[in-house]
Amino acid sequence: MTSFSQALSAAQALDRADSLVGRRALFSLPEGCLYLVGHSLGPPPASALERIAAAQKAWQRELVRSWNSAGWIDLAERAGARIAPLIGVDADEVIIADSVSVNLFKLAAAALPLARRKLIMVEEDEFPTDQYIAEEMARQLGSAFQRLEAGSAFGALKQGGILIRSAVNYRSSEVTDINAFEEEAEKHGTLIVWDLSHATGVMDLSLRASGARLAAGCTYKYLNGGPGAPAFVYVERNLASRLASPLPGWMGHDSPFSFTPDYTPRAGTARFASGTPPILSLAALDGALDAFEGVSPAALCAKARSLGDIVIAEADAAGLEVMSPRVQPQRGGHVSVRIKEGYPVVQALAANGIMADFRAPDTVRLGLSPLFLSHEDVARAMAQLHDILQSGSWDRPEFHARSKVT
Ligand SMILES: Cc1ncc(COP(=O)(O)O)c(C=O)c1O
Repeated sequence: MTSFSQALSAAQALDRADSLVGRRALFSLPEGCLYLVGHSLGPPPASALERIAAAQKAWQRELVRSWNSAGWIDLAERAGARIAPLIGVDADEVIIADSVSVNLFKLAAAALPLARRKLIMVEEDEFPTDQYIAEEMARQLGSAFQRLEAGSAFGALKQGGILIRSAVNYRSSEVTDINAFEEEAEKHGTLIVWDLSHATGVMDLSLRASGARLAAGCTYKYLNGGPGAPAFVYVERNLASRLASPLPGWMGHDSPFSFTPDYTPRAGTARFASGTPPILSLAALDGALDAFEGVSPAALCAKARSLGDIVIAEADAAGLEVMSPRVQPQRGGHVSVRIKEGYPVVQALAANGIMADFRAPDTVRLGLSPLFLSHEDVARAMAQLHDILQSGSWDRPEFHARSKVT
């Protein structure tokens, strides 16, 4: 037996024991495409496409009446309520609104007055938008700002203030111990705004049990809500009633159609809604969430990590440097490997029907969405990566031509 056929039969054995295997049929993926970029833009479940078509029809036939007749006015709340069990909180503690960038701003600015010190902190290896928002917000609000050295955030919690922090790092896939961070933050009057973009739909997040009180996350990655799908906001119920959104738009008003000049925020997390929600995108997201019905976050997480173990074993066999934690509980839903010529390698993979992504300067990320990928898919993708590297077939001029999005 070759090492590939051994890896393949081991992967097939894992697939036979996989409780999520039937979920693949819910997705509309091109024939022959091995899609390892669900951590960037999830593919469409057929139910998402159907829901967009239904929203289009409602728009065409019912026009403005659809806000009531098709329930558009409550869709942000209904879709938020469906995300709540995936992150371990109550249905009324989540609402869909805006983008992650905007929501990080809203939550951190709202929470700042409750922190022991007027300080906003973010680590230097956080996703760039988190850093840009944190720094500019501090400037606008007259707060101190600290860009922390990577890995030093836990120690910085004793300072008081606000920390913006990813639950799973976008580059390394390293998981943060939410419980430990929250316990430490609580002792020192620090509040943490969690960025759940790389965690939702792939990690077993028990936010309430872990003491997390403020979070935002995107819905176009593992939740498969579609390109530019709106983000979600979670605020723990008791805290929400003490916070005022810095962007108090009419959709966060208790009675938007009273058209009163004074502002009365909606109860709870819903006050973090701002303007009119993007209904076509929201409809897609609501449809996409059908694929998660009856699936436990624990099952999603276990499968993603089992897929990740294959990536790591095969990357080791190919002599590649693995940038992600090897131990399962410390690793999120993707595995990153360092490849100096990662950009053309990713293009060469795509030419062979395998999609991965590249983050400058040298990171190739392999996303392990548990709902539509099988262990066999991952074993095949890794064998192809090995072939491309061994043969040097990535070094063709067309694979070096850079596009705007990598
Ligand atoms: C960790 C993280 N935060 C934030 C974002 C950006 O969110 P948005 O474009 O919704 O503002 C991304 C995008 O990939 C991300 O990975």
